[in-house]
Amino acid sequence: MQQARMRAAQPDAGPGSPFAPMRDSDLDEVESIERTLYDFPWSRLNFADSMAAGYCCRVLRQNDELVSYAVMMCVLDEAHLLNISVARNVQRCGVGWRMLRHLAREAMGYGALRMFLEVRPSNAAARAMYDTAGFQAIGRRPRYYPALDGREDAIVMSVELDERWSA
Ligand SMILES: CC(C)(COP(=O)(O)OP(=O)(O)OC[C@H]1O[C@@H](n2cnc3c(N)ncnc32)[C@H](O)[C@@H]1OP(=O)(O)O)[C@@H](O)C(=O)NCCC(=O)NCCS
Repeated sequence: MQQARMRAAQPDAGPGSPFAPMRDSDLDEVESIERTLYDFPWSRLNFADSMAAGYCCRVLRQNDELVSYAVMMCVLDEAHLLNISVARNVQRCGVGWRMLRHLAREAMGYGALRMFLEVRPSNAAARAMYDTAGFQAIGRRPRYYPALDGREDAIVMSVELDERWSA
């Protein structure tokens, strides 16, 4: 399944790519989507700081509408996925998968060998996407996230960035 999906991948980098660097002018839309998706959303400043720090901040537009964005930090041979989000009205249409695959390819271009991320145990959609993509749980950070009823652990996950992502 995973191999089949990766083989079916359409190239989506380079000229004409719908993926673009996040800019200040995107932040109204990013902030608005972020607030609809999370109980504890990133602030506008979090995104601005990420861009200023030189993190890989990307947006995906469909028909001029911003439908997905992501923030990834690449350090040496590691890529850390800090945020990946899809507007609620286009979820379950393959957009998250396209963004994740695009980021993996970019990270490989920077020399990353593995991608790491943290996810809430309660986030079934994200966990399903990461499982499908071959991520493995490698650890747990107790009480890492704020939650409406206290704190929630983070599951730390990792995947190898190998030829499957560029196929
Ligand atoms: C997680 C998220 C990015 C997935 O984006 P998406 O565009 O809906 O995902 P896709 O349509 O590309 O789905 C890819 C795969 O993920 C899994 N998946 C995605 N959403 C799912 C859901 N609600 N329930 C079960 N599996 C789901 C499926 O395996 C799916 O493949 P399939 O459709 O062939 O079954 C999106 O739900 C989102 O933005 N959630 C809120 C923000 C968030 O939680 N981000 C991650 C923080 S760690």
